[in-house]
Amino acid sequence: MRTKKNSVTIKSESELARMRKAGKILAKVHEQLGKELRPGMSTYEIDRIGEEMIRSFGCTPSFKNYNGYPASVCVSIDEEVVHGIPSKEKFIREGDIVSLDIGVVYKGYHSDAARTHAVGEISKEASLLIERTRQCFFEGMRYAKAGHCLHEISGAIGAYAERFGYGVVRDLCGHGIGRKLHEEPEIPNYKKLLPGIRLRPGMTLAVEPMINAGKAAVCWLDDEWTVVTKDMSLSAHYENTIVITEGMPEILTLTDSEMAKNRQHD
Ligand code: MF3
Ligand code: CO
Repeated sequence: MRTKKNSVTIKSESELARMRKAGKILAKVHEQLGKELRPGMSTYEIDRIGEEMIRSFGCTPSFKNYNGYPASVCVSIDEEVVHGIPSKEKFIREGDIVSLDIGVVYKGYHSDAARTHAVGEISKEASLLIERTRQCFFEGMRYAKAGHCLHEISGAIGAYAERFGYGVVRDLCGHGIGRKLHEEPEIPNYKKLLPGIRLRPGMTLAVEPMINAGKAAVCWLDDEWTVVTKDMSLSAHYENTIVITEGMPEILTLTDSEMAKNRQHD
């Protein structure tokens, strides 16, 4: 009899060291690129600046040419959930919410993170969606510990979003990460019937709630990449790369000031 191989990898200390570096650099890229956003800028320009930053830190962009994706930064505006393709003809405007999803490779190891930004003044509805999507991630982190099961993270994310009547995207998931951008396991953002794998120290995961202000349903545009909400409601995305430990997870893709902000919330 053949037993199913559990191919979720445990990273060694030297692998983790590279992932930490990849994470810190990505946190910086997000921080700096977020500050560059201005009404009237094209999404192409955002990608150009982003790629330049990634390379200036000695990394390469994870997404460029991944399964044919043509850019380094996914730029998704308003009802676009993820994987928006940068374009010279697409401009961000005052009042938009803009999700930037970026991956970088450092010495063969990936980190992956996403943030949703406000362009100028945005509606109360939009800023609540952004803040609560971020909080979904941290609700999940309460279970991201050795001994817990993977889908406890999923359930906590989904339950928090549903409190506000939001739609939790079901057609896309988080994922293991390391030598490859996408490794096992798949990490849903909603409650599952089965508990999922048991978490062990050294597992590295990209946890990424994608939350819609309206219904959960999404569809793909003709470019075969851009995912949009079916009901055209706003959508937000928040993602970090983490390491499972015996205690609280190590979040690799936060800046020092984001880490300090977290401690205040504890
Ligand atoms: N964070 C996204 C993901 O994990 C980014 C992938 S974009 C792609 O799926 F272009 F690389 F596919
Ligand atoms: Co990801």
